[in-house]
Amino acid sequence: MSSGPMSSPSERRAGARDAVVWEALQPHLKGGPLDVVDIGGGTGGFAVRVAKLGHRVTVIDPSPDALAALGRRAREEGATVSAQQGDLSGLPELVGAERADVVLCHGVLEHVTDLPAAMRTLHDVLRPGGVLSLMVAQRTAAVVARAMAGHFAQALAMLDDSGPTGRTGRRFTAGEATVAAVGADFEVLAVHGVRVFADLVPGSLLDLEAGAAGSLIELERAVAQRAEFLPLASQLHLLAVRA
Ligand SMILES: C[S@@+](CC[C@H](N)C(=O)[O-])C[C@H]1O[C@@H](n2cnc3c(N)ncnc32)[C@H](O)[C@@H]1O
Repeated sequence: MSSGPMSSPSERRAGARDAVVWEALQPHLKGGPLDVVDIGGGTGGFAVRVAKLGHRVTVIDPSPDALAALGRRAREEGATVSAQQGDLSGLPELVGAERADVVLCHGVLEHVTDLPAAMRTLHDVLRPGGVLSLMVAQRTAAVVARAMAGHFAQALAMLDDSGPTGRTGRRFTAGEATVAAVGADFEVLAVHGVRVFADLVPGSLLDLEAGAAGSLIELERAVAQRAEFLPLASQLHLLAVRA
């Protein structure tokens, strides 16, 4: 994702998210080629980048529109990505047991009803020692945002885990996401806060001075692994290894 002067404010915000996640993931994408599965990979923003490193990447997503956009993106960027329509519950049949070296699951667990079963599925498709890159919506920042917008009843209702309800679905604290991973026999290597500031900053501020977007990304990097900033993050990224 570009964060250069010609990109839009939303692209520059996305750049702040991608920088933290991509830098956490990259050490686990060395060597290979590795078998990488991106469940709920959508239009392939991550999958295409991973494929361009030379890995065998499969995106599985229930949305035919997202898979069509993924195909166009891959063609435009000269990358080869396999696309399969399906969802997380069908992953064992689509991929097979212990077939993946790396599984990306970004923005999907918010909507699953049986969280322990979903985590177990992610575990089972990974080879022993395989790496899970998990991204989920973080709850505390969302509660603060609702309250600051004057939606106090909504903020109150969001304080505790409400399950996968509503448009945004379930949100997690860092502790809950870690417990879900450990409960499925993952060893959590790192937890990163993603978009600690990027979703708070008005887009116009990113246009105010040259290099502002780059400085924001630098700041996001600096706080991503500081525990005191995790509750402020829009999203959480967990890196975990299948035990
Ligand atoms: C918020 S988007 C995230 C897309 C991509 N992973 C990313 O980080 O940019 C969520 C994606 O999950 C897919 N999805 C929704 N429910 C799913 C399920 N039960 N299993 C797998 N994918 C699902 C949607 O079609 C959508 O493409």
